[in-house]
Amino acid sequence: MTGRKGPVLVTGGAGFIGCNLADRLAAEGREVIVFDALLRQGVERNLAWLKSRHGARIVHVSGDTRDARAVEEAAREAEAIFHLAAQVAVTTSLVDPIEDFEVNVQGALNVLEAARRRKTRTPVIFASTNKVYGDLGDVALELAGEAYRPRDPELRARGVSEARPLDFHTPYGCSKGAADQYVLDYARSFDLPTCVLRMSCIYGPHQMGTEDQGWVAHFLIRALDGQPISIYGDGRQVRDILNVADTVDAYMAALRRIEAVRGRAYNLGGGPANAVSLVQLIGHIEELVGRKIELGFAEWRAGDQRYYVSDPSAARRDLGLGEPIGWRTGVAELAQWLIAERGGREARRERVEALS
Ligand SMILES: NC(=O)c1ccc[n+]([C@@H]2O[C@H](COP(=O)([O-])OP(=O)(O)OC[C@H]3O[C@@H](n4cnc5c(N)ncnc54)[C@H](O)[C@@H]3O)[C@@H](O)[C@H]2O)c1
Repeated sequence: MTGRKGPVLVTGGAGFIGCNLADRLAAEGREVIVFDALLRQGVERNLAWLKSRHGARIVHVSGDTRDARAVEEAAREAEAIFHLAAQVAVTTSLVDPIEDFEVNVQGALNVLEAARRRKTRTPVIFASTNKVYGDLGDVALELAGEAYRPRDPELRARGVSEARPLDFHTPYGCSKGAADQYVLDYARSFDLPTCVLRMSCIYGPHQMGTEDQGWVAHFLIRALDGQPISIYGDGRQVRDILNVADTVDAYMAALRRIEAVRGRAYNLGGGPANAVSLVQLIGHIEELVGRKIELGFAEWRAGDQRYYVSDPSAARRDLGLGEPIGWRTGVAELAQWLIAERGGREARRERVEALS
């Protein structure tokens, strides 16, 4: 940490990545202001979990990032800001691009302005996405069994680096990309210590995965429920998945090293060693749950990359990150967490029913 002990503001702090980050910050003794409108179904459980673990160290502010005054108020005492609150689904952005813009662009600008107005130089670390690189349609691919891979052996070995030109696709890509650029520009134009982490697919405990976002948890939940899974495309699309514990390591390091990484954007993912296609992941889940999963196939989704694997070397070097948790181990741990969590919820429901 920076050595200072003031509160840290985490927008979207009840969400999947946000609550894991808030948990780590609170465990290190920081007070955490969880600014979250609880717009995502189920995240109130994450908030209850945080409060049960850390009590008064977790201060929930039920506000919306579109409300500039509420954001400024929440940021008044904050010594650092992690901006994670967002409209997170490409599908939703195609249904309502205006709302997507307001949450993702105006919301980010409100956060940056709140930081700029503070007298101290308040670090802002932003959760960006690989979608800022578009669909990578120009990358020549070949099929290797159940997965696409680039023909170029160099790209195959290293992944996509930050040198890749930006190319925003879909309203979500545009809104997150615009916010990503604003965050970097506030370092240039206003000397604000900001940093951008362009994440690939993150998975782990507390992920409320749905068909629209959070596919690793979504696949596991469907498999545990014995339900079929819909695949958009042929299922051979590849992502480098990263466990949320490793993701949180990167956010914590970005804050600790903010002066060294200010004004920089980093690709953050599991890298080539953790690249997996949807059908390969499903194969692994079938082994974990001990039965076949019924699959339905539908059209490709807009902007869906056939292949996206980050080159994590710059992030690992500059943020001092270790080797991430291997995807097979991490997914098995998430399965165990989901089983335990769902068992606990079922038991709680039965207790309530018995009392009523
Ligand atoms: N999970 C991933 O794989 C992934 C990958 C790339 C980028 N990201 C980015 O990381 C961030 C966190 O993602 P996540 O997976 O934890 O999502 P999440 O949906 O679990 O968390 C987002 C949280 O933000 C809150 N929120 C949404 N709109 C809000 C608003 N207007 N005001 C206040 N709170 C609001 C929601 O209630 C939710 O708790 C997002 O910015 C997302 O775009 C996530």
